[in-house]
This record gives sequence, structure tokens and C-alpha cells, in this order.
Amino acid sequence: EKVLFVASECAPFIKTGGLADVVGSLPHSLKENENMDVRVILPFYDEMSEEWKSKVEYVATINVKLGWRNQETTIYSLKHNGIIYYFVANDYYFTRKGIYGYYDDGERFVFFSHAVIEALNALDFKPDILHGHDWQAGIAVALAKIIQPIPNLKMVLTIHNIKYQGTMPLDTFHDFFLLSREHISGMEWNGMLNCLKAGIFHADKVTTVSPSYAEEIKYPYYSEGLHPILEHRAQDIHGIINGIDTKEYNPLTDPYIPINYRSARSKKQDNKILLQEELKLPVDREKPLYILISRLVEQKGIHLIMHIFDEFIQNDVQFIVLGTGNEQFENYFKHVEHVYPEKVRALITFDEEFARKMYAAADFFVMPSKFEPCGLSQLIALQYKTVPIVRETGGLKDTIQPYNEITGEGNGFSFTNYNAHDFLNVLRYSLEIYHRPEHFQQLLKNVNKSQFSWKNSAKEYAKLYETLLPSTITI
Ligand code: GLC
Repeated sequence: EKVLFVASECAPFIKTGGLADVVGSLPHSLKENENMDVRVILPFYDEMSEEWKSKVEYVATINVKLGWRNQETTIYSLKHNGIIYYFVANDYYFTRKGIYGYYDDGERFVFFSHAVIEALNALDFKPDILHGHDWQAGIAVALAKIIQPIPNLKMVLTIHNIKYQGTMPLDTFHDFFLLSREHISGMEWNGMLNCLKAGIFHADKVTTVSPSYAEEIKYPYYSEGLHPILEHRAQDIHGIINGIDTKEYNPLTDPYIPINYRSARSKKQDNKILLQEELKLPVDREKPLYILISRLVEQKGIHLIMHIFDEFIQNDVQFIVLGTGNEQFENYFKHVEHVYPEKVRALITFDEEFARKMYAAADFFVMPSKFEPCGLSQLIALQYKTVPIVRETGGLKDTIQPYNEITGEGNGFSFTNYNAHDFLNVLRYSLEIYHRPEHFQQLLKNVNKSQFSWKNSAKEYAKLYETLLPSTITI
């Protein structure tokens, strides 16, 4: 089977979040485990490093019609680690700083979607399935359904985060599409053109990145207004949990961490000492170390942390934060670092290398998200034998079981309600368990056994694709 992924980001070329990790690693797993030819198409951003930009090869020049606009567009390709990537280059839309955040982001990705459909004619790769990711690919999914660029082409859309929908005033419909009015209703939501809705409406199958999130988004609290349309598609919505690249995130071979280890706690503590020295924190291998590595945005539950931070930090612990985001949150953590110089460090930056050192050194990883479609960092934490403390939502609920001291089961700590004191209680409980060695060891044993590689998830995607393809059984 041949699948074309359509996405706005893909590691290692360009990344702002978990989407890039998934688009970067799932094709490899589908290739290795399921024998599929999966390729990826994404914009050619000026923002990409020279290393990648200089390696691409010319494929074709296409003319993309975005309503009345004619945009000449070049398609490039690059083979990397056995996977073929296509890039859509256009000076007007993609030679800007960064990836998102422009007033015309909607138009930029509507353009990208048009270009993908046009590119299907120019490429010598004819996919069976076009698999779009998030709102940026929603219009590609819709156009593929409406225009049918390849006979029998089927469409899958994966929702990585329903909060971002790509909405624009509805009059852009006639501006962006040479389609008749009858197609408006499939792309419209609440009086706006809505790219995510358009994708959900037109896809043959819709997936999201965990079974719990697939359930949650049926309800208004999580659906960001889209629950009626999800209800309408209920039969075709599937939750498939993300995996992570276990070769990439492996403490035994990770080049970024000072002391490699398989699971030994003593070596993790050696890493802890080095980190404490580097950050000029009091050096003590036994001191419980909590870390937060996150975009500092509301989704990640930062408000809960702020609400109980002063109380929690009175305990004999250390707390290190790494991430960027809302200024208010960034300033808050700078502030507490100033108030508690012996206990807190706030690194307001995005630094993959440093993140690995933190995963390697820490005892606990906090992630009290308000919502979390899947979440990858709790899975990375597990790989580095760091105990996750999460809220029971979306993928966090599906991957972390709270430790139960009676049965000895569970690979982390969790709480149900989005409530700061419930969170504080589990933080305190984690500390209590930390000081009861027989329990903490049992917990670490369970953490060691937790595995979220792509293998199983790739199988589920393969099964889903299978249901869309014409049956090969002949009598
Ligand atoms: C989004 C979600 C996150 C998920 C990631 C990859 O970033 O917020 O929960 O893990 O996409 O699917």
C-alpha cells in the first residue's frame, strides 16, 4: 500500500511540537513493520536549516490555482533514512520567519492543500491513501474528496489537537476555491470557513491520537465546538495511541546525556549530580528532583502548577522548568526561581539537548494538562525511567496508571479533576512514595516495563487503511 502523509511539520526538518515527531517517526514504523511505502509532503520553509535546504532535488514545477491567484510552485524531494519527502516551495507563502503566526496562516495552508492536490498529478507516486494531519491538511482532504485527483484515492484525517481549526471569514470560500456553492456546507462551521471541519467532514476515516481523546472530543468541554460534526462521523472515528521512536529516545545510547544507563537508579543519580552542578543547585543525589518540560501554555496545566507551587516547594525538593510560551508563565517561573534560589531553576528556552539531560537526571516528570490528545513527553519520561505525574485526560490517561500500593501496580501518579489541590495531593503522595524505598522500587520496576514503541500503533493504522482499500480477495 502507498500512503502520502500531508502535514505542516515533520522532524527532523521542521518542528514546533509533537505533531512533527509523529509525522517524522510513524512512516518509518509503517515501512519496517507493515511493509508500506509511506511518503510525506510538507511546505518548504525558509526556516529549515541549510543542511536540509541544500540537499533537496528538483521534481517538478506546477501551477497552483488558489481562486483567481496563479502561483508557480516548485516541488522538491529528499530521501532521508529510507523515506521520501516532498516539499512544496513558494516564495510568497513560505519564505518567512518561523512557521506559524501570520495573519494569513489560513490562506497559506489552503494554498498548501491546493498544491498537494496539484502535485499528485506531477509526482510519479500515486498513493492509495492520502493521510492528512491537523487543520493545515484539512482542505487537502476535502479537495481530494471533491476533485478525486486519483481514482479510488481514500482519505484519512488525524486530529492531533482539536483546539486549532484554521478558521477564516466565509467569503474567502469564493476567493480560494473554484467550486460551486454546494460545497460550502461541508467546509463551513458557525459561519466561518473551518479547515479542520472540512477535513473531518470529507475524510473516509478520522483518527485521533489516543482512545480517551477520541471519546472526550464528543463532549463540549473538549470539542472546541465541533462535537456535533464528530457525532455525525462517530462511526468513522478511531483513537490510536502515538508511539515514540525508542531508538532516538534511549538512555543507553543517547549522545546528549553525560552518563548512559539502561535503568540503574544510581546512574540516574550520577546524572542528577552533574545537572545540579551545572545549574548551581545544592548537590545532593538523594534530593527528589521534579521537572517540567513543556510549552508554557494553558493546555499544559500551568495554572495548576502556579496555584500550588509555593505550598509544594516548602518540601525538601528541587524543581527545574524548561520551556517557552506565554510571557505570563515565563515570568512566573523566573519569579519563583528568584524567590527559591536553592530549589528552583527556570530555563526559559527550547533546548532538546538540555531536555534529555533533565529526563536523565530527574525522579519525577510533571504534566498536569488541562487536555492532552496524546502527549509524548510522558512517554519520553518513561523511557528515561522518570516517573510521570499527570492528569487523567486523553493520552495521559491511556498511558499512565496511578501507582497502587496495595497491588503494587502502576507506572506513575495521576489525578482526575482539573483542580490544583488534587494535583498538590498527588505531588505530596509521590514524595511519600519516594521515601518508602520498597514502594519506590516497585514503581520504578513498573516504569521499566512500560513500552510505547510505534509497533502496535503502526499495526492499527495499517488495519485501518486496509478497511478502506478495495478488497483483494478473488473467488
Ligand atoms: C499535539 C497534542 C499532543 C500530541 C501531539 C502528537 O501536539 O497536543 O498531545 O501528543 O499532537 O500527536
